[in-house]
Amino acid sequence: MPQTLADLAGALAASPLNRLAVYLLTEVPGFPPTVQTLHLLSISAIMGSIVLIDLRVLGLALPTQSTNELVRRLMPWTWWALPVLAVSGLVLVFARPARYLSNPVFGLKFAMLAPAIVLAVVFQRGSTRHPHFWEGSPRRRASARAIAAVSLLLWVGVAMAGRWIAYADYLFPE
Ligand code: HEM
Repeated sequence: MPQTLADLAGALAASPLNRLAVYLLTEVPGFPPTVQTLHLLSISAIMGSIVLIDLRVLGLALPTQSTNELVRRLMPWTWWALPVLAVSGLVLVFARPARYLSNPVFGLKFAMLAPAIVLAVVFQRGSTRHPHFWEGSPRRRASARAIAAVSLLLWVGVAMAGRWIAYADYLFPE
């Protein structure tokens, strides 16, 4: 593990956040499955909002729905799901920082999550600037499709990496 991550893991392990997370996960009955359920429900919200919009832009779902209308109605689900994902995920990270910060799949998850969020912001900004912004010219239509394709791959990648964190040993044997 790189020294900065090792230092961060050490600092987190010595912090009150670690004691709070360990207390919640070990002493509060039902807390671990509740946190994991919140994580999973928020993933469903992501899949049913931004990923559905990506599929619409690519012509693979909801062909009769206006993309702009979908962005307006569904994107709030993505923006609300993200903080819930962050809080529910961070409780687990704070409890065992070294386990996660030394896990390459965990790093990969965030390497995909950051650009996925940037693309979501870019796409939504275009849509709010003008209702038909992404249909305004052949170039914009092509850009929208490219954004949707990359975004789709990134979100699926984030979800896959999330599940594969527990199986990093299979991917990266010592
Ligand atoms: C925003 C910050 C996030 C943090 C801090 C975070 C953190 C975590 C952690 C610590 C785990 C447990 C891994 C394990 O021990 O096996 C996990 C699981 C998982 N995460 Fe995240 N995550 C975040 C966002 C996301 C997002 C955006 C997605 C997908 C769209 C996602 C998908 C998953 C999946 C599929 C699992 C496996 C759940 C299970 O099998 O119970 N996570 N995440």
